[in-house]
Formats: sequence, structure tokens, C-alpha cells
Amino acid sequence: MTAPLRIALLASGRGSNLQALLDASRHGRLAVEWAGVFSDRPASCALERARAAGVDARGIDPADHADRTAFDNALFAAVSRVQPQLIVLAGYMRIVSHRHVRDWRGKMINIHPSLLPKYPGLRTHARALAAGEAEHGATVHYVTQELDGGPAIAQARVPVHAGDSADSLGKRVLACEHALLVATVAAMADGRLALHGDAVLHDGARLAAPLELDADGGLQRPPC
Ligand code: GRF
Repeated sequence: MTAPLRIALLASGRGSNLQALLDASRHGRLAVEWAGVFSDRPASCALERARAAGVDARGIDPADHADRTAFDNALFAAVSRVQPQLIVLAGYMRIVSHRHVRDWRGKMINIHPSLLPKYPGLRTHARALAAGEAEHGATVHYVTQELDGGPAIAQARVPVHAGDSADSLGKRVLACEHALLVATVAAMADGRLALHGDAVLHDGARLAAPLELDADGGLQRPPC
């Protein structure tokens, strides 16, 4: 048995992805140890969810810091103190400054509600609908300097239905996000994923395309 992966999570709001990880670890489906949960919104639901699960939770308010750099330095000093092996950004709505992205390269992942490289940024569901996409989804990727642009690790796909609104499509994507994030963090906890330069290695082999979430919540290599 290898030691559980020690994780810290950053979130700004609702925290449903955090909840999926908390539930999976509580039910023995995810071998992680919680180093802490951090938020730029001290009143966020995410912090409440962490505390309810007995996980250390800390809000750090940007308004208490002189500028973005000072805030990020304080946040990442606090994160570093709890010594995570992996930082998960799950609904963390701020851009992380370059210095900290560089320090945590290969050890920081983000979940984004689109099939990257399509639709980085905000309002992804509305944009996918406006473009007439037949398929939409979510991506977990390593965090690099490029916003929502780091190497993609795994994706979950959902169909776009006739008559979908951004809201209905977003709910379908969110349900997949939870399974996708749990499966990806589980693969990391099992030591199956690594970043080598700009390449994602899965079981030591370079991924030519992101892993795909299957109907059983597992991750599969896409067919060549
Ligand atoms: C998710 O859609 C995530 O992909 C995006 O922000 C949303 C956060 O939702 N980055 P929650 O806070 O995890 O419920």
C-alpha cells in the first residue's frame, strides 16, 4: 500500500466538485489525505462543506491584501505550510500568478466545464450552445501560465439535447465533472499520471489525447 496522496483544494463558491471528492474519500473510493481547503471567499459554501467534513478550511480575503501579488503570496504561503502533494483548483475563480504556477507545475490541476481547447474562460455552456455543438463536456488539465490552456489529462463528454438551455446543459456537465474529477485524482493518487515537459504521461506512456471518462466512472485511453 502506498501512502495516500495529500491534497489541498482551492474553491471560490458552491464547492460541489469538492463535495464529490470529500464523499469519494469518505467512502473509501479515493486514497487521499486532506491537507486543507482554501478560498478567496471566506463565506463560501466550499469552506462550509470542508468544515462539515472535518477538513481544515481557510478563507483568505483579497480585500485584506494590497494587491493581487500580495494576496497570492499569502494564499500560497498558507497552502505550502500544509504541504500538499497536489493542489486541485475546483471552481477557483481567480488567475494564479506566474510565480506560483511555476512553483507548482505538474502538481496543480484545474477542472474546467468545456472540452478544452474549446471554450476556455467563462460562460462555456452558453457559448457551446450558441455554436451549435452536438457535444460538450469537461476537462481536467494541469495548470500552466496559459488560462485554461495547460496539458489536458482527462475529459468527460455529454450530448447537447435539442431545447437545452445553458442551465440544463450545465447541470448535465456538472454531474460528469464530479465523476471526472474523482477518477482523475484517484489516478493521480495511484501514481499513474505525471507531467513531463508539456506531455501528460499515463502509466509512463505519453498521452496523444486526453483520457476519457467511461460510463462506469473509469478513465480510458481514447482509441488511436
Ligand atoms: C465547475 O463547473 C468547474 O468546472 C468550474 O467552476 C464550477 C465550480 O462548481 N471551474 P463547484 O463550485 O465545484 O460546484
